[in-house]
Amino acid sequence: MSKKLLCIFIVLFAGLNIISQVVMARDVSLANNQILLTPTHGGDGSAWGQSKCSNCHVLRNIHATAPDIKGITQDVGYSSCTGCHGQNGTSAQRQCTVCHNSDRLPKSPLQHAEKNHNFTLAEDTKLNDANCLVCHDASDMDGDFEPAVDLKHFKSSEAEMPYRSGTEFCLSCHNESHQQTGFEMEPRFLRDPLVMMEKNYKFIDVHGTIKGTGERTYSGLRSDYEYPSVVECTDCHAMHGTHNEKLIVDRTDAGMSKLSASLRLQPVLIDVKQNGDYSQLCVSCHQMQDIVEQGAQDTGNGLSGVHQVGTDCRECHVHGMAVQTGL
Ligand code: HEC
Ligand code: HEC
Ligand code: HEC
Ligand code: HEC
Ligand code: HEC
Ligand code: HEC
Ligand code: HEC
Ligand code: HEC
Repeated sequence: MSKKLLCIFIVLFAGLNIISQVVMARDVSLANNQILLTPTHGGDGSAWGQSKCSNCHVLRNIHATAPDIKGITQDVGYSSCTGCHGQNGTSAQRQCTVCHNSDRLPKSPLQHAEKNHNFTLAEDTKLNDANCLVCHDASDMDGDFEPAVDLKHFKSSEAEMPYRSGTEFCLSCHNESHQQTGFEMEPRFLRDPLVMMEKNYKFIDVHGTIKGTGERTYSGLRSDYEYPSVVECTDCHAMHGTHNEKLIVDRTDAGMSKLSASLRLQPVLIDVKQNGDYSQLCVSCHQMQDIVEQGAQDTGNGLSGVHQVGTDCRECHVHGMAVQTGL
C-alpha cells in the first residue's frame, strides 16, 4: 500500500470514529451538566445497568477535556466513577469522601473541625457520603460552586426551580409549612430558627430581605459587603466543619463569601464564646466608621469595630427579633 493511500485510510478511519462517537455519546460536557448517566447510556441503553465501567472505558483515555479531575480520578480509579456519574441503574455506592478528605482535597471543602451539618443535632459524627448526596447530587466538579448545579433540586411547594442561591436551598428545609420528607424538624422552643428561618429571612431579619439603613450609630461594613443586601446563610454557618456551636463558622475562609480576598483567605479566626459573645463573628463583616464605645477594642482575633465586645449579644441580636437590633 502506498503511503498516500494509507494516509487516506487513517483519515477516513479517524473520521468514522468521530462520527460514531458523536452519534453514540450523550453530551456530558460541563457546559451542559448532564453528568448523571441515564437509561440511554451506551447510545442504545446497552450500557445501562452495568456496574463494571472498566469493561468499556479506559481510565487514561477519559476526561481529556476536564484537566482538574483527570489526575485524581485516574489515581482513585474505577471505584470513583459512580460518585460523579450516578449509579447507572445499579445499586453501587456513590463515594465522595474518597476524594473530598483532608489528604486529597483539604480545602474543598474545609472539614477541619468536628461539628458539621450532618442532619442531627444529637451527634457530631463525621459527614459521610450519604450526607454529601443530600445536598449535592449532581455536582460537575469544575472548581466553581454554582447553586443551580451543585445543590440538589428538592421539590419545593412552588415550581421545581433550580436554586438561585444557597439561601433558597436552606429555606427549602428550614421552614414551618413545607419541609422535606425524611428531614422533618420539630421546634425545640417558641420561634425556633430551625423551623422559623423562612419567615425570619423574608419578613424580619436585617441580614435577610429586610433592608438595613446603614445610617445607625455603629454602621460600617468591610468590603465587599454593603447596605442593603441579603447575606447568605453560609456566610455565617459552616456546613462542612467548625468547632463553634450552632455551626457558626470558625474561620473567614469557611464563610464570608463577599469579604475581600486578602482578609478572607488570611484567614481571620472566629471563636464564639460560651457567654454568647459573638463579636469575632460580627466584626468579620462589620467595622463601625465613627468609633464610639468599644469600637476600637480588639475582639481577640485582631479585628475591631463592633460595640459591646465581651458581652452576651443574644439579648439584642438573634434571628427573628423584630426590633431595631435583631439579626
Ligand atoms: C470527579 C468527578 C468525576 C469522576 C469521579 C468521574 N468522572 Fe467521568 N466525567 C466527569 C465530568 C465533569 C465529565 C465531563 C467532562 C467534559 O466536560 O468534557 C466526565 C466525562 C466522562 C466521559 C465522557 C467524556 C470523556 O471525557 O470521555 C466518560 C466516558 C466518563 N466521564 C467516564 C468515567 C469513568 C469510567 C469514571 C471512573 C473511572 C469517571 N468518569 C469518573 C466527572 C467525573
Ligand atoms: C458495555 C460497555 C459500557 C459499560 C460497562 C459502561 N459504559 Fe459508559 N459508555 C459506553 C458507550 C458505548 C458510551 C458512548 C460512547 C462513548 O462516548 O464512549 C458510553 C458513554 C459514557 C459516558 C458519556 C455520557 C453518555 O451517557 O454517553 C459516561 C459519563 C460513561 N459512559 C460512564 C460510565 C460509567 C461511570 C460506567 C460504570 C458505571 C460505564 N460508563 C460503563 C459503554 C459502556
Ligand atoms: C447541608 C448541606 C450540605 C452538606 C451535607 C454538604 N454540603 Fe458541600 N456545600 C453546601 C453549600 C451550601 C455549599 C456552598 C457554600 C459553602 O461553601 O459553604 C457547599 C460547598 C461545597 C464545596 C465547594 C467548596 C467550598 O467549600 O465552598 C465542596 C467541594 C463541597 N461542598 C463538598 C461537599 C462534600 C464532599 C460533602 C460531604 C462530605 C458536603 N459537601 C456536604 C452544602 C452542603
Ligand atoms: C475522583 C475524585 C472525586 C470524587 C469521587 C468526587 N469529587 Fe467532588 N470534586 C473533585 C474535584 C477535583 C473537584 C474540584 C475541586 C477544585 O478545583 O476546587 C470537586 C469539586 C466538587 C464540588 C465543588 C463545586 C464544583 O463544581 O467544583 C462539590 C460540591 C463536590 N465536588 C461534591 C462532590 C460530591 C457530593 C461527591 C460524591 C457524590 C464528589 N464530589 C465526588 C473530585 C471528586
Ligand atoms: C434536607 C433538609 C435540610 C437542608 C437543605 C438544610 N438543613 Fe439545616 N438542618 C436540617 C436538619 C434535619 C437539622 C437537624 C435538626 C434536628 O436534629 O432536630 C438541621 C440543623 C441545622 C442547624 C443547627 C445545627 C446545630 O448543630 O446546631 C443549622 C444552623 C442549620 N441546619 C443550617 C442550615 C443551613 C445554613 C442550610 C443551607 C446551607 C441548611 N441548614 C440546609 C435539615 C436541613
Ligand atoms: C457575613 C457578613 C456579616 C456578618 C458575619 C454579620 N453581618 Fe450584620 N450585616 C451584614 C450586612 C451585609 C448588612 C447589611 C444588610 C442590609 O442592609 O440589608 C448587615 C446589617 C446588620 C444590621 C442592620 C444595620 C442597619 O443599618 O439596619 C445589624 C443590626 C447587624 N448587621 C448586626 C449584626 C450582628 C449582631 C452580627 C454578629 C452576630 C452580624 N451583624 C454579623 C453583614 C454581616
Ligand atoms: C443591649 C442591647 C445590645 C446588645 C447586648 C448588643 N447590641 Fe449591637 N446593637 C444594639 C442596637 C440598639 C443597635 C442599633 C443602634 C442604632 O440603631 O443606632 C445595634 C447594632 C449593632 C450592629 C450593627 C451595626 C450596623 O451595621 O449598623 C452590630 C454589628 C452590633 N450591634 C454588634 C453587636 C455585638 C457584636 C454585640 C455583642 C458583643 C452586641 N451588638 C450586643 C444593641 C445591642
Ligand atoms: C449574620 C450571620 C448569620 C446569618 C447570615 C445566618 N445566621 Fe443563623 N445564626 C446566627 C447566629 C449568631 C445564631 C445564634 C443566635 C440565634 O439563635 O439566633 C444563629 C442560629 C441559627 C439556628 C439555630 C441553631 C441552633 O442549634 O439552635 C439556625 C437553624 C440558623 N441559624 C439557620 C440559619 C439559616 C437557615 C440562615 C439563612 C436563611 C441563617 N441562619 C443565616 C448567625 C447567622
